[in-house]
Amino acid sequence: MTADRRNLLKGLAALTGAGVIAACNGKAQQTPASFAPLKNSVPYPIGFCGMSVNFNDPQWTDLGTRHFTRFVSEWEQKMEYILQEDGSLQLDRALAQANFARAHGMTMHGHTLVWYAQDGEYFQKLANRPEAFLTAYADYIAGVMKPFRGICDGWDVVNEPILDNGSGLRDCLWRKVLGDDYIGLAFEAARQADPNTVLFLNDYNLEYYPAKRRRFLQLCEHLLKTGAPLTGVATQTHVAVDVEKGAIRDTIRDLGALGLKVYVSEIDISLRTDKPLMGKDGRKEQLRVLEEIVTAYDELRPEQKHGITFWGLRDKDSWLNRDKGLRLSKDEPLLFDDKGDAKPMAQALTQLWA
Ligand code: XIL
Repeated sequence: MTADRRNLLKGLAALTGAGVIAACNGKAQQTPASFAPLKNSVPYPIGFCGMSVNFNDPQWTDLGTRHFTRFVSEWEQKMEYILQEDGSLQLDRALAQANFARAHGMTMHGHTLVWYAQDGEYFQKLANRPEAFLTAYADYIAGVMKPFRGICDGWDVVNEPILDNGSGLRDCLWRKVLGDDYIGLAFEAARQADPNTVLFLNDYNLEYYPAKRRRFLQLCEHLLKTGAPLTGVATQTHVAVDVEKGAIRDTIRDLGALGLKVYVSEIDISLRTDKPLMGKDGRKEQLRVLEEIVTAYDELRPEQKHGITFWGLRDKDSWLNRDKGLRLSKDEPLLFDDKGDAKPMAQALTQLWA
């Protein structure tokens, strides 16, 4: 981050704070057409997530294809949607999303194969037959991955394996039947399914909980030592504006030290905080947090930069404003407002990448 970039950003933050942008053009945002595509200024893949229902909204598709080079399926590439009770795979929507991505010259990042949060009746019925379970486990991974060869340039093979307190692995059906090695087994099966895609371990709160980050890194080192084909590490970066200064930077640096691909996989920067902001402007803090993400990511070696993904397009698309358990006050965690206009965070990105 050069000094003039930082000064530019400080200037932008001040403008935003003083509302000068609002005064200049009557509103704080630039209209979709007037805002140059983000993808033109970023030196690595920039992604957004969405669901099939979003594809009925032309503003959403226009905005996504204008600014991003990668699509991530928010729900329909997960076991909960794909796996049927008889073990068959429902890939219709994820394949349609792949066609959308391909049609617009975008890649996909596959999300996600093995997750503690979703296991399905089909696997639960096999829980007492470990051999059959393992065969079905490998078959599931292969069955989901193979149709996306050449479009998914990376996969979250195992998602959220570490307990938030950093004491060890989460309990889940996979671990119960296959043991701790369910993770290595998933990576082996994934490599068999697609020899060319990057295979990621993905988790969240790595910036908030150093103990969890340490345990995540220990798991990565164990996987590498035992020959598992782990080739990427991902930090979700679901953060709020009160995230400790430097925590995201330390996380990206720690992950980068493994020498693998690094992926910032699910960015949203919530204005909702557990503790009061002590008079700080939340939207200015969002710019600080975004600058820290991009600055730290910039420090990685070019060959490590798998890219960054925002967990949604417009604020109204965010799971933070949609999922029942999360809808508290209206949140504004993403780059574009509900009308699809570029917010200061989007404008700050073009300054940071300039
Ligand atoms: C979330 C989706 O955004 C929601 O729509 C869905 O109801 C639940 O899952 N970490 C992950 C993502 O890896 O898959 C989650 O996505 C958000 C947390």
